[in-house]
Amino acid sequence: MIFVFTKKCTALLLALCLFFCLPATASALSFADMDGDGRILAADARLVLRAAVGLTPTTAEMRNAGDVNGDGNLNPDDARAVLRLAVGLGNKDDSGLRGMDGARLIGLTSNEYRIYEKDGSTYIDGILIANKTYSLPSTYDPGDLLPECKQAFNAMCDDAWYYDDINLYEVSGFRSYATQKRIYNNYVASDGKAEADTYSARPGHSEHQSGLALDVNSLKNAFAYTAEGKWLAANCHKYGFILRYPYGKSDKTGYIYEPWHIRYVGVERATKIYNSGLCLEEYYGITSQYNY
Ligand code: DAL
Ligand code: ZN
Repeated sequence: MIFVFTKKCTALLLALCLFFCLPATASALSFADMDGDGRILAADARLVLRAAVGLTPTTAEMRNAGDVNGDGNLNPDDARAVLRLAVGLGNKDDSGLRGMDGARLIGLTSNEYRIYEKDGSTYIDGILIANKTYSLPSTYDPGDLLPECKQAFNAMCDDAWYYDDINLYEVSGFRSYATQKRIYNNYVASDGKAEADTYSARPGHSEHQSGLALDVNSLKNAFAYTAEGKWLAANCHKYGFILRYPYGKSDKTGYIYEPWHIRYVGVERATKIYNSGLCLEEYYGITSQYNY
C-alpha cells in the first residue's frame, strides 16, 4: 500500500525515529499503547508510523490498537492522533473512565475529546452519546428516564411554574428499542425512509432510549414561539438540559429543528454548550451520520 506523506508528516517520522529508539515489537496492546507499557507516549506514535510504512510486522492486534481514527487502516493520521494523546491534547476529558470499569478508549473526536466505549455504548466527556453515528445496543434499557434526568426535569417544571407561570410537561420520555422500532417503521410506512430519517431516529439511535431525553409540551414547530418554548430555550441549561436539535443545525445533528426535544447533560456541560451557541455534535466535534 502506498502512503502519501505530507512534508510535515515525513519530518515527524524522522524526528520520532531519531529521538525514540524503542523496540518495534509490541505486546499486551491496548488502545494506542502500542508498546504495552501502560502509557501513551511519542514512542507509541512512532510504532504506529513504523507499522504504517511497513517497517514493523503488523498484527491484527496492533492494527486494532493503532487504528485510532477507526478507518480500518494504519496511517500517519493515526500516528498524529496518538501523538496528540501523548502530549495531552486528548486530555480534555477523562471522566468517561471514572466509575466505568471496562470502558475502552476507542478514539478522539475532531475537537480532541476522547471517545470511550462500554457495553456497546459510546461516551464522550463523561456522557452517553446517541445519534446517527453512535448507537445504543438493543439491550440498553433503563426502563424509564434516568433519575438525574427526571429530578432535573421536575425541578425545572416546578421553578418555571412557581416563578414564571410557565407550564411545562413531558409528552414523550423514555422509549425502548422496541418502541422506537415500531414508531420509526410507522413513519417509514407513511412518509418513506428518506423523509422519516430527517425527524425520527432508527431503532438504537434515539436519545429517548438513553433515558436522558424527553419531548416537552408540543411536537410542533409553533412551540418555539410560545411563552413555554421560549422559556425552555432560554432556561433549560440552568437545569442541565440542552435543546438537542436546534434551529439551523440539521446538517450537524442529522435531524430537523425540534424545539421540544431536550437532553440532560448536567448543568456545567449544558451551560457551556448553551454559551457556545453550538449543537452537541459541533461542540464535541463528532458526526451524526448513518453508515448503513
Ligand atoms: N425525534 C428524535 C430524533 C428521535 O426519534 O429520537
Ligand atoms: Zn424527542
